[in-house]
Amino acid sequence: MGNIDRNHPVSVTIKQRYPLTRESSSKQTWHVTLDLKGVDLDYHPGDSIGIHAQNDPLLVEHLIEAMQATPSDTITHKRSGKKMSLATFLTHHANLSRITSSFLKLIHEIEDCSKIGNLLDPDNKPKLRTFLKEQDPLHLLQGFSKSKLPLQDLCDQFGPLLPRFYSIASSKRVHKDALDLTVSLFTWMQGDEKRYGVASHFLCHLAKLGETPIPLFVQPARHFRLPEDHHTDIIMIGPGTGVAPFRAFMQERMHHSSKANHWLFFGERNSQSDYFYESDWKKHDRLHVHTAFSRDQEEKVYVQHKIKENAKELYKWLENGAHLYICGDAKMMAKDVEQTLHQLISEEGKKTEVEAKEFLKALRKQGRYLLDVY
Ligand SMILES: Cc1cc2nc3c(=O)[nH]c(=O)nc-3n(C[C@H](O)[C@H](O)[C@H](O)COP(=O)(O)OP(=O)(O)OC[C@H]3O[C@@H](n4cnc5c(N)ncnc54)[C@H](O)[C@@H]3O)c2cc1C
Ligand SMILES: NC(=O)c1ccc[n+]([C@@H]2O[C@H](COP(=O)([O-])OP(=O)(O)OC[C@H]3O[C@@H](n4cnc5c(N)ncnc54)[C@H](OP(=O)(O)O)[C@@H]3O)[C@@H](O)[C@H]2O)c1
Repeated sequence: MGNIDRNHPVSVTIKQRYPLTRESSSKQTWHVTLDLKGVDLDYHPGDSIGIHAQNDPLLVEHLIEAMQATPSDTITHKRSGKKMSLATFLTHHANLSRITSSFLKLIHEIEDCSKIGNLLDPDNKPKLRTFLKEQDPLHLLQGFSKSKLPLQDLCDQFGPLLPRFYSIASSKRVHKDALDLTVSLFTWMQGDEKRYGVASHFLCHLAKLGETPIPLFVQPARHFRLPEDHHTDIIMIGPGTGVAPFRAFMQERMHHSSKANHWLFFGERNSQSDYFYESDWKKHDRLHVHTAFSRDQEEKVYVQHKIKENAKELYKWLENGAHLYICGDAKMMAKDVEQTLHQLISEEGKKTEVEAKEFLKALRKQGRYLLDVY
């Protein structure tokens, strides 16, 4: 099946879905298996898929009410020029989480809305930024009066619903007709209301098994591939959902009867409730796993603490040609881990700070230090 891309996704359904975290956990992460029967998707371990999610039907229903419209009202989708029902537009094409400033301006032009007040005054920019970050279209429209809203104009002001990306957690060579994902459910509080991330909510809760179409495409990660030689040692650092591609890596390595050594650093909140894929790791006799459960004790324990404890051995692996991978959170984890690596290389390799940085840079150039962080 050729030509599957962001603009030409292929639709599949969810075959199986179960939580990887136990009920007692303080978070929810799900294993989601997509049914690829009859779909020839070209992907490699390390790649992600892009998913076009749907907005929550309840949110769509409330918005339509607040827009004083009906689901079957016809509008033109500004970006494609296609005519469609309001319900289709709001479900598949609009970012319902964010108010754009043009949306706010339009509302303000129609009627003096108390929620907007003088937010659009040029000297109120910081206040406006906070408002746009904290409020959403539904809450804004619910505070609006009874006058009829210009539906098309309103629809034109929504931002687009962008695809979300998920690392592929299985190898095509092992699972021919299925593709696994590891999805962490995003939640936050808006006042007293619990809110969900659009795509994680869609994949973990809303999409019906075997029924709801999930339009997707492959997002290749040529910067995050296994070594060409199946017998090269690899070190994988993947806390949280960062572990997903490493499950695919290990399946691929098993398929090739790899004689290499594999080392995984996995971190999550609690050992009792959040040790994903524990039984999978046990299938591999050439895999060492070091875990860091951050909330099992008073003081945080992260993957970088486990890396530090194993500094000598890890440096030896690097000297002997191992490839080093990091996947997961970009904001804090990847930076902190890299800092630990600098320190480790400096201490174990008897190098200055600058030389340690050069060492890691050289590994990167050789394609032996690879990151996929988000
Ligand atoms: C290459 C790549 C690979 C990835 N792999 C994985 C993976 O394997 N597993 C995984 O779980 N994720 C992965 N991600 C992250 C994933 O793509 C999504 O970003 C993530 O699931 C959140 O998407 P969402 O639609 O559920 O949340 P969104 O709806 O995008 O919301 C995300 C966050 O935005 C904030 N937010 C949104 N709206 C509001 C609002 N109105 N008010 C206040 N705050 C708001 C909240 O903090 C919320 O938690 C990956 C990302 C990339 C780029
Ligand atoms: N808003 C939400 O509901 C929500 C839900 C899930 C994920 N997320 C975000 O999504 C991304 C990925 O989440 P995830 O589910 O894969 O797990 P994650 O939040 O990245 O957490 C995985 C593990 O990494 C630990 N960690 C936190 N900071 C770290 C650091 N600086 N260095 C090393 N380890 C660190 C966490 O510990 P502690 O958490 O104990 O500090 C936890 O044990 C993160 O950016 C996260 O913030 C948000």
